[in-house]
Amino acid sequence: MFGGAFWDELYRSRRTVWSDEPNPQLVAEVSGLTPGTALDVGCGEGADAIWLAARGWHVTAADISSVALERARAVAISPEIASRIEWLHIDLVAAAAPGEPYDLVSAHFMQLPPAQRESLFRRLAASVKQGGSLLVVGHHPSDLQTTVKRPPLPELFYTAADIAALLEPNDWDIIVEASRGRSATDPANRTVTVHDTVLRARRRARSS
Ligand SMILES: C[S@@+](CC[C@H](N)C(=O)[O-])C[C@H]1O[C@@H](n2cnc3c(N)ncnc32)[C@H](O)[C@@H]1O
Repeated sequence: MFGGAFWDELYRSRRTVWSDEPNPQLVAEVSGLTPGTALDVGCGEGADAIWLAARGWHVTAADISSVALERARAVAISPEIASRIEWLHIDLVAAAAPGEPYDLVSAHFMQLPPAQRESLFRRLAASVKQGGSLLVVGHHPSDLQTTVKRPPLPELFYTAADIAALLEPNDWDIIVEASRGRSATDPANRTVTVHDTVLRARRRARSS
């Protein structure tokens, strides 16, 4: 249901699907981190990856949709910023991204069925370097009680505690475990408050 064909069709159905601005929780959580290597999971049309690269991160920007990646590659950016992004066509539920481990793994709005989601997030956690950061942002279950457009499938929604529970407590410091409100527009053009699930955790460095 949520494979490459589904996403390619969604992207083909509109000239632009997402904003060309980086996600607000990415900006809030990553602005204070020292740039290194980053994996942007499900990078879509590329706004987060481009924002990261503009700040000095070396980004592997991965997506299952070749249509989204074509669009991301076509965004006009400087050669210097472009040189810091590798666009990667990959199904990250089925396979790990090359280049692991990363200083930052960032996954925004990966709304998958629980078994796939848990397996993906466990693998993403394993692909963070010691001392590195995992940032997972998703649609909070309470969005289903709003009028904003969301798939009517409660199992796709998760809290920060759901994600924190997947992390080995001895290996991680939880920095942020929150549900953050932000304004969104519903199909009737009304402004409503939706909530982002935000989990940021730092992998502990182990002395050898
Ligand atoms: C809701 S969109 C979010 C896009 C972007 N992260 C953003 O916040 O604007 C989810 C993205 O994940 C991608 N995706 C879904 N399943 C995937 C998978 N198994 N492997 C890699 N990317 C996937 C989709 O193609 C889509 O671009």
